[in-house]
Amino acid sequence: MAAVERPARVRVRTGVPEAALRVLTAAGLRAELGALEVEECDALLCLLTDRIDAPLLDRARRLRIVANMAVGTDNVDLAAAAARNIAVSNTPDVLTDATADLAWALLLAASRRLAWADRYVRGGGFTGWRPDVGLGLDVTGRTLGILGAGRIGRAVAERARGFRMEVLFHSRGLPGSVSKDELLARSDFLSLHAPLTPETRHWLSEAELRRMKKSAVLVNTARGALVDEAALVRALREGWIAAAGLDVFEREPALAKGLVDLPNVVLAPHVGSATIATRDRMAEVAAENIVAALAGRPIPNRVA
Ligand code: DGY
Repeated sequence: MAAVERPARVRVRTGVPEAALRVLTAAGLRAELGALEVEECDALLCLLTDRIDAPLLDRARRLRIVANMAVGTDNVDLAAAAARNIAVSNTPDVLTDATADLAWALLLAASRRLAWADRYVRGGGFTGWRPDVGLGLDVTGRTLGILGAGRIGRAVAERARGFRMEVLFHSRGLPGSVSKDELLARSDFLSLHAPLTPETRHWLSEAELRRMKKSAVLVNTARGALVDEAALVRALREGWIAAAGLDVFEREPALAKGLVDLPNVVLAPHVGSATIATRDRMAEVAAENIVAALAGRPIPNRVA
């Protein structure tokens, strides 16, 4: 007697928006919300906080796809997945605008000291207008340096037009890209938009921070480990650069010692893509990748 095929099972990590479940169930898949248990599942819809490594993949005998609900895939061992014939997908495009908007929010907040200003008013410090209170840095007409010329880097650059800024890119293979040294030396604002890889880890460490302008502002909405966070704390404390706006951290959710005590940094809890509509779309896109993989169709956002 032929074995009865069981319906494909999809493990969806707790916290993924319900929009993903709607896509999966509409396609006739059995979607189960829960912990990172992969033994019985054919597909995994995971979060960027899940470490998908070789030992985990070894336990996942039936797994055909890891669909990461993020554009970055540095939490997934891509080589280990490829070696086991497991596809990996991400969620590009749908989060580009939200992330570029947040990079700008941090750029403006750090240069105009908005977090400080908010604390000052709430703390009762505002007792009347004064010409010397809350002084920050000009943005309009300055130079914006961007590491990485992918979708988000380019979206950040587009927004700079309204601020009449000169924009410099440093990106391998991009015509007109400036050298890393030139980017560091000329940028008044430096915004990071590169994936985290062994080559980009600590792309900005002590030597590079010391080459930046003392008036420069760093913005990071990409991955925390692009920056040596301990060196950044010293740079901000000792005035090698002026300020920073950070949405990502080297060892999330831990922060480098001393970071929270600095007045010249604005901190956010990795919320670059955190709008209601964007997070729903990310969940749907991740689910659509799974539906395609399990139907044997080309996976729209396959990265490995
Ligand atoms: C990503 O997608 O990689 C962001 O860090 C979270 O949206």
